Amino acid sequence: MKGLRLIATGGALPGRTVTNEELSRTVDTSDEWITTRTGIRTRHYCTEGENAATLAIAAAKQALQRSGLAPADIACCVCATLSAPDATPSVACQVQAALGLPENRPALDINAACSGFLYGMAVARGMLTTLGGQYALVIGCEALSRLMDPADRSTCVLFGDGAGAVLVEATEEENVGVQNSYLRTDGQGLPFLHMKAGGSVCPPSHFTVDHRLHYLYQEGRTVFKYAVSNMSDITATIAEKNGLNKDNIDWVIPHQANLRIIDAVASRLEVPLDKVMINIQRYGNTSGATLPLCLWDYEKQLKKGDNLIFTAFGAGFTYGAVYVKWGYDGSKR
Ligand code: UT7
Repeated sequence: MKGLRLIATGGALPGRTVTNEELSRTVDTSDEWITTRTGIRTRHYCTEGENAATLAIAAAKQALQRSGLAPADIACCVCATLSAPDATPSVACQVQAALGLPENRPALDINAACSGFLYGMAVARGMLTTLGGQYALVIGCEALSRLMDPADRSTCVLFGDGAGAVLVEATEEENVGVQNSYLRTDGQGLPFLHMKAGGSVCPPSHFTVDHRLHYLYQEGRTVFKYAVSNMSDITATIAEKNGLNKDNIDWVIPHQANLRIIDAVASRLEVPLDKVMINIQRYGNTSGATLPLCLWDYEKQLKKGDNLIFTAFGAGFTYGAVYVKWGYDGSKR
């Protein structure tokens, strides 16, 4: 196997759309603050019966159907999430069951926070290389509305729910698909974006609930600085190493955490915003789902041979950049 070609996309959004105006009725915020500081206008929240797994299943079914493949063709399933319905079993096992993927194939979740989709592509590639098989499902899915403190204006306006899925194919062709990947971690970032309780160190108790410790905690300003510098540096590095520049980069696909971060990454590459995939205004930050949801939204505009640079940054810190040469024209609907 030489390359990993992306061959179809799928996506799913939950039923409830929440506007900035709606949030401003429950916390001390405003449409003006959220729009100017983040770029977000609406986000989707799961309703009863919806969760990260139901969204993952819907997105994966669509990617499979658009690819024209059968469940039996799928050699492995990798699901990137930090908001799985249960600590165990995994979302990937639920996808395996719901789609009828063969039992004798691996399916697992990974947690690399907002960089999860990029890590997931590398894991899928590794599994196809070591275990064999031609096709893999890589999914990013989140139900972050269930992890946010609805009373904390500094986080509750930021996040949304959704799932994106991509079908990837192991190929002997070199000049298509994933060309280069840089994946990084920086544990210095641990205190700035995390959940204080609910794991095995600080399991749920009356104390943790009373002190609202089960929600996502973020020191936004610090994370912002690291996100700008790390995403800008790593995209500049991957561009330079692969002979890419403002003239031959067709699309930048950045993690959707803040429009100001996206602007900074694009400026560093000198790429105009009309070559940058942006859907934060409609979905907010959907963590591991942002990158496949961007692909899902923009697929119809992509052409065979386009040079795409993905980049992400998230809790950990984890971050990375991946250079992909796109493999087909338009959308597979
Ligand atoms: O996806 C994983 C990685 N995450 C990120 O990359 C997120 C990075 N961080 C950010 O995007 C931004 O830091 C935020 C959007 C989270 C916050 O924006 P900011 O410009 O950094 O605001 P800030 O935290 O410095 O707060 C500025 C002010 C504060 O008021 P004072 O202390 O200046 O009086 C906050 O209390 O804005 C206030 N504030 C709000 N005001 C109205 C914070 N949240 C809100 C809000 N509405 N929702």
